[in-house]
Amino acid sequence: MSLIQWVDFQSLGDHRGQLVALEIGYEQAVPFDIKRVYYIYHTAPGVSRGFHAHKKLKQVAICISGSCRMVLDDGKVRESVEMNVPTRGLLIDSLMWREMHDFSDDCVLIVLASEHYDESDYIREYNAFRELIKNET
Ligand code: TYD
Repeated sequence: MSLIQWVDFQSLGDHRGQLVALEIGYEQAVPFDIKRVYYIYHTAPGVSRGFHAHKKLKQVAICISGSCRMVLDDGKVRESVEMNVPTRGLLIDSLMWREMHDFSDDCVLIVLASEHYDESDYIREYNAFRELIKNET
């Protein structure tokens, strides 16, 4: 099975333009209760971000402007996907290594998170991530 799992949001667009509502509990597309929302923007040219996994946290990332490339890696398979559709969220499960590359100048990436910020939930060393995955399976 591919690591790339999208959740699709309905666009409530009309002749004036587009609108997407992320409403918890109403035909919920996001498969967890959202405890935190953050966004990444004005990323400096050539910068890549991420390079970590989370023990517990689940996230949905939506590129609402511009584009970037997300790499997901579950310790066995590594997949890369272009993010440039504002009505599609990429589900990033727990124990999933992620990297973000090739940010356009106008890229705005909104991330919906299942937990509050907790530095102790981060795995920031790829080798430590591989070891953890090995012990989990
Ligand atoms: P980090 O998760 O390292 O960013 P990325 O993985 O996108 O490169 O976060 C950057 C900094 O911001 C780091 O010092 C932690 C802080 N931070 C918070 O305080 N709250 C948050 O919700 C997030 C995502 C980060």
